[in-house]
Order: sequence, then structure tokens, then C-alpha cells
Amino acid sequence: MYVCICNRVNDRQIQKLARQGVSCLDELQERTSLGKGCGCCMLEAEQILEEHCSGPGVNSGNQHSNRETLFPMGGSNFEPAV
Ligand code: FES
Repeated sequence: MYVCICNRVNDRQIQKLARQGVSCLDELQERTSLGKGCGCCMLEAEQILEEHCSGPGVNSGNQHSNRETLFPMGGSNFEPAV
């Protein structure tokens, strides 16, 4: 299942990278370009990282640490421009 539609990143890719030690969204973005479009995939990607991380835990990094940071205007029903 695609998690990031903008950049064609699926849940299996994220799970694999998490098992390989990727533990923060910043690193995930560097490795896959996930979240570099509309950004509405970040919460789900973080959840998958948390579930499959092989390390001590997910470090959300300094950019996307919580819902308020991800969606500062409130809500996550962001509609990407088409
Ligand atoms: S769905 Fe990931 S950047 Fe748009």
C-alpha cells in the first residue's frame, strides 16, 4: 500500500528501512523522498517506523515531532493541489 502517493513510497519500503536502522523521519525522507510533496503522509510514515524500528525507538527528528508540527493549522485533511 502506498503511504506517500506523491513520491511512490509504500509501507513495505518503510518497514524494510526501519528494520535496517532508519529511525527518524528526516532519514526516511533522505532515503526515499517521502513527504517532500504535499506532506500528508508523514504521520502514517512515523507510525510505521515506530512499529517496525529495530533500534531503541523512533526519533522524530527536529522537524516533524508531533501532529501540531505536521499540521500547524489544525487537522490533517489537507487536500493537495491537483
Ligand atoms: S503523500 Fe507524501 S508527500 Fe504527498
